[in-house]
Amino acid sequence: MTPQPQKIAIVTGANNGIGFETTVGMAEAGYHVIMACRSGEKAKEAKASIMKRLPSASLDIMLIDVSDFASVRSFADKFRERFSHLDVLINNAGILVYSAQSDADGIELQFATNHLGHFLLTALLIDLMPDNPASRVVALSSVAHKGARIHFDDLTCGGNGGIAYGQSKLACLLFADELNRRLQSARRKIRALAVHPGGSDSGLFDEMNRLQYFTLKALSPFITHSNASAARPSLHAALSPQVAGGDYYGPTGIMEMRGPVGHAKRDPVCEDKTVAQRLWECSERLVARKFEIPPAQAQGNAAA
Ligand SMILES: NC(=O)c1ccc[n+]([C@@H]2O[C@H](COP(=O)([O-])OP(=O)(O)OC[C@H]3O[C@@H](n4cnc5c(N)ncnc54)[C@H](OP(=O)(O)O)[C@@H]3O)[C@@H](O)[C@H]2O)c1
Repeated sequence: MTPQPQKIAIVTGANNGIGFETTVGMAEAGYHVIMACRSGEKAKEAKASIMKRLPSASLDIMLIDVSDFASVRSFADKFRERFSHLDVLINNAGILVYSAQSDADGIELQFATNHLGHFLLTALLIDLMPDNPASRVVALSSVAHKGARIHFDDLTCGGNGGIAYGQSKLACLLFADELNRRLQSARRKIRALAVHPGGSDSGLFDEMNRLQYFTLKALSPFITHSNASAARPSLHAALSPQVAGGDYYGPTGIMEMRGPVGHAKRDPVCEDKTVAQRLWECSERLVARKFEIPPAQAQGNAAA
């Protein structure tokens, strides 16, 4: 393995929407960015378009399907073969589907994609993160987490895709909070944070029915912001020296849909730590992997 002085970031779902703009921002900040995407073709197109916009960008494409745990494991193995450390992990990839769908393991697809795949990815790579405050794990939640619950007895949410989306985004936020608590009790300096992007007209809504889709298109100039603005909370969480582990950021304007980045509002369910702990254990069971926080000295090959 050649020496790797440059800081390294992974952005999942880097080829489109908010992930694309997050990749640009991380590359602008001087990171070598791994574009972790499920489609090689889309990733190549996105990379070419970033290189046009930012010729100095240092980018790599690595394939991953975050809804498929075998693919997540294979990605982590390949990453470890190529890189000695990981500074920032931005768990951005996500889907919003309106019908009941499952992944290869029979798990509700949004829960598997938005939460479980990222839970597993983080568990498999966290020992490569240097023990300093610039090391960040960033989870993408949503205002849709408000009012949601984790339906431990039926993660399919009775086949209701909208409810399952809210559940998955609550899971992302609870995971970041619980990860941060566990990092702190292990006296680790890595920071785990959550963000939500507000609203942006990305590919996320492509599965809407025609009426919903055209209504969104008509309203979006008034209520949403660009994908570049929607990426700001992620970039703030990943890069700002001012953030603390466990913070949750998003746009602070009307209905939290757009506006300057600031502290975002959590659903009160996030105050109940037993829910986050139960989710952690449930996630470990579903991905068949214990997620232990490694002690700082166990980072043999990680750069300081
Ligand atoms: N846009 C909003 O208003 C909004 C609001 C709240 C939260 N969010 C969150 O923001 C994040 C980014 O979404 P976006 O709005 O930028 O949507 P997007 O334009 O649809 O981008 C989603 C990205 O995730 C990738 N992805 C989906 N499933 C994947 C899988 N199984 N494995 C690997 N990659 C996968 C997509 O790849 P393909 O191109 O191959 O499909 C795409 O690159 C999501 O977590 C979403 O929940 C967005």
